[in-house]
Amino acid sequence: MLILGIETSCDETAAAVVEETGDVARPWAIRSSIIASQIPIHREWGGVVPELASRQHLRDICGVVERAMADATVTWRDLGAVAVTQGPGLVGSLLVGVSFAKAAAVAANLPVIGVHHLAGHIESLALHNGELPLPAIVLVVSGGHTSLYLVEQPGQYHLLSRTRDDAAGEAYDKVAKLLGLGYPGGPVIDRLAKSGNDRAIALPTTRLTHADRNAPALKGDLDFSFSGLKTAVLRHVKSASHPLSESEVADICASFQRVVVSALVERSFVAARRYQAKSIGVAGGVSANSRLRADLKVRGEAREMPTFVPSLPLSTDNAAMIAAAGLRKFRAGVISPLDLNADPALAL
Ligand code: KG4
Ligand code: ZN
Repeated sequence: MLILGIETSCDETAAAVVEETGDVARPWAIRSSIIASQIPIHREWGGVVPELASRQHLRDICGVVERAMADATVTWRDLGAVAVTQGPGLVGSLLVGVSFAKAAAVAANLPVIGVHHLAGHIESLALHNGELPLPAIVLVVSGGHTSLYLVEQPGQYHLLSRTRDDAAGEAYDKVAKLLGLGYPGGPVIDRLAKSGNDRAIALPTTRLTHADRNAPALKGDLDFSFSGLKTAVLRHVKSASHPLSESEVADICASFQRVVVSALVERSFVAARRYQAKSIGVAGGVSANSRLRADLKVRGEAREMPTFVPSLPLSTDNAAMIAAAGLRKFRAGVISPLDLNADPALAL
């Protein structure tokens, strides 16, 4: 079976065709994956402007889907279903994808499957690496989320912890903005950090010990917090009596990145030990980070714990991961009704 995936939750209009392989260990293969990025549009404003994002999705969606179908050399008749990101994300942006997917599904007489954006990120791991040894701890770390999940059965995601304030990617973007490095911040900080001293500046690590009032069911000690770190960087920059030199900026980037990455890696391994996981996966935009990838690998090898990340193109937002998560739901017997609606705060 072939499935069309559509993703429009933030600032990428994406469509992909994914095929079921019939191989239990490696269930899916990507036939095509098209991404129209809006980064140049939002860069001018220092971050994503929701109204501009939804308008651009409207302009791009038809062409992006046509291109994904053409690259995969398929027609609507060859497809078995359409999967689309239902949420979370920007409501105007989500609505473009959801409306398009429903209209296409009705016209082509196909089932439509609403997918959680983070389920897509989680399934990017199996899409790239094949099925992970379960139970697995999966860290989803993006511009909007920093959440740890326990995956005991394929397609079942149990939330263990999340960030109390900023997502890790959001912290990268905010720190880049205050250093005047532009949007998005992750890739540029990642690059500059390579030439900096990661111990040059003492920045705080936040370790939480108590449960979150907003989520009392979660123990809380695996939660993340990055807003204090961002404020500490801001204070450091403001206290400088002169414009920062290139090497000082590199030192700030490296020091900031060390603290973020060690919190992410540390808590993933604590969770793995607590839940006797057989593997750890890290997905989402920040999983593209070179230090996170390197530190995860080193720690995994030292602890004899298999670790997995998606390929770089599958780390940031894409539609192939949405198609894969859609196939997972379809095979579990789940499809969505045609009154499927975008849900900006959809829970997983
Ligand atoms: O998953 P994603 O494409 O979109 C969301 O669902 O949010 O993640 C985007 C986030 C941005 O905050 C961006 O700065 C961050 O991922 N990012 C990185 C890197 N590449 C992208 N953060 C750190 N290092 C990178 N190399
Ligand atoms: Zn994402």
